[in-house]
Amino acid sequence: MSSVLALDNVTAGYVGDIDVLRSLSLTVEAGSITGLIGLNGAGKSTVMKAICGFLKPKAGRVVYQGNDITGLAPHHLSAHGIWYIPQESSLFPYMSVTENLRLPLEGLSRATGSPDRAEIDRRFADMLEKFPALRPKLKAQAGDLSGGQQKMVEFAKAWLMRPQLCLIDEPSIGLSPKIVEEVFGWIKLFAAEQMAILLVDHNVRRVIAMSQRIYVLSLGEITASGTPEDFQGNLHEQVKSWLGINF
Ligand SMILES: Nc1ncnc2c1ncn2[C@@H]1O[C@H](COP(=O)(O)OP(=O)(O)O)[C@@H](O)[C@H]1O
Ligand SMILES: [Mg+2]
Repeated sequence: MSSVLALDNVTAGYVGDIDVLRSLSLTVEAGSITGLIGLNGAGKSTVMKAICGFLKPKAGRVVYQGNDITGLAPHHLSAHGIWYIPQESSLFPYMSVTENLRLPLEGLSRATGSPDRAEIDRRFADMLEKFPALRPKLKAQAGDLSGGQQKMVEFAKAWLMRPQLCLIDEPSIGLSPKIVEEVFGWIKLFAAEQMAILLVDHNVRRVIAMSQRIYVLSLGEITASGTPEDFQGNLHEQVKSWLGINF
């Protein structure tokens, strides 16, 4: 396997000299799910923000497909094949679902010349096959949809972009168990299409079961990493006591 993304000793923080991430290194391999688990406030979302350029690291490097992208502005990421599904909504509430879905793809097309109009239409049709429940909602204002439906639009938007790397932060928070099942189904769909995924979710058991590699983040430092088998075996008790949770 080859690394799509590598964080190399990244140190980052929001205020003054308080470091939220401390010399953090991890890799995300091609065509696989990498899970990141840790308590609230450990710095999981900050890892995502440091990758996406919302927070410029003070030290260390973010390397994507062999290129240093440290601090690259967020609006350049999609042209590089990186997509971020944040915990909070990224939809424009007063725009229609269709407009929300097409906007980033059309922006990418204008900026890079690809995909062309025919490809955009082809992808849109394919997206509606993968997310058929969006069909009757296309004309609705995004802000009028339920939380679960809005999450579906987020995933459909990501799917349209065909990223090589997708960063997914707390996708199941606040959703009903039925919708949560759908959300994890979409993540499996993405992975089956060889998308590399960095996944953060509070459902530790689920993240461990779905990921090929898992990192444990405590107070901004990686304190353990391993395969799902490691977390069933020798890492289980250790991580249980660190995180104070059963899984
Ligand atoms: N915008 C911000 N400004 C200042 N501190 C922040 C900001 N966002 C997060 N933090 C702090 O950074 C730490 C890590 O937060 P976060 O990355 O959101 O953790 P997690 O996603 O693991 O719950 C926390 O102590 C949090 O209070
Ligand atoms: Mg978070």
